[in-house]
Amino acid sequence: MLDIKITHADHLKPHPDPDTLVFGKTFTDHMFLMDYHTGQGWHDPRVVPYAPLPFELSCMVFHYAQEIFEGMKAYRTPDGKVQLFRPYENAKRMASSCLRMCIPEIPEDDFVQAVKAVVEADRAWVPNKVGTSLYIRPFIIATDNGLGVHASHSYLFAVICCPVGAYYPEGIDPVKIYVEDEDVRAVKGGTGFTKCGGNYAASIRAGERAEGQGFSQVLWLDGVHRKYIEEVGSMNVMFKIGGTVVTPELSGSVLPGITRKSCLELIRSWGIPVEERRISVQELFDAAQAGTLEEAWGTGTAAVVSPIGLLAWEDRKVEVSGGGIGALTQKLYDTLTGIQWGTQPDPYGWTLPIE
Ligand code: COI
Repeated sequence: MLDIKITHADHLKPHPDPDTLVFGKTFTDHMFLMDYHTGQGWHDPRVVPYAPLPFELSCMVFHYAQEIFEGMKAYRTPDGKVQLFRPYENAKRMASSCLRMCIPEIPEDDFVQAVKAVVEADRAWVPNKVGTSLYIRPFIIATDNGLGVHASHSYLFAVICCPVGAYYPEGIDPVKIYVEDEDVRAVKGGTGFTKCGGNYAASIRAGERAEGQGFSQVLWLDGVHRKYIEEVGSMNVMFKIGGTVVTPELSGSVLPGITRKSCLELIRSWGIPVEERRISVQELFDAAQAGTLEEAWGTGTAAVVSPIGLLAWEDRKVEVSGGGIGALTQKLYDTLTGIQWGTQPDPYGWTLPIE
């Protein structure tokens, strides 16, 4: 159990208009910080006013990207309460990212306590308009100064929060996706299964190219054969083909998404067959041509469930669900967000209230 010192901000900032929230632009009044030093372990947990921090330019994170993060949300329920969604899953994933990136782990209970402490301090920032939430960004950075390539001996764990609306400007409207056949996001043995900044840095060029051509995001292929589907943009991806939901297996280069896991649990509970396996882009486009590709969608904390309305690969373009939202995609979105926003019962025990 952490002994968290709380210092409240003297001046509270005005809240942004909930009708025009832009993802990740406005931050709340407080942040959580905790330091690590070899020999001392994690120490000095505190909630303090949100403010810039000074770092030397030799700080290791700026050079070798020893850094990991999580993405989660707090939701306002109709009775005005605030709740988290599966926070222990984020704690577990962060621990697994820590192991791969040589960062000292944070005990799961401490991680959840830290998140709860900052959300409690900024409870008033959790918006209540339909489709909005408080996005929570826990992260750890290496803070040793120096240019040698080694594991740092000091780290900072921070949690910052921002009120958000939809991640894509399209909202729940279908997005257009382009199959990326040049850049790859990750390979097995690398860091693809972790949530480290480097994975996202490697994805930016393809994302920019796709946006330049009028697409929202790219469909990533595996780095070895360049033919098996891995993820879409910064989300996991699922397809409904001939009545079965098919999604890339967690092969080491795919992020084990918590929204992915929740969607698969929901789909299985509805008696719909699920296959977690390799799926090639050829199989996908063949299914589209044969008329068996019924639906496609991305899943992620930020984007929730995002329908895919158009897929483009080389010179081929296929419309999915007639360019609209498929019935299963809509049901997943409604059920998941219903549980998250507390407008539907939570038979799975996925939500954790902030008292
Ligand atoms: C999330 O869905 O929470 C993510 O971390 C994706 C992101 C990089 C915005």
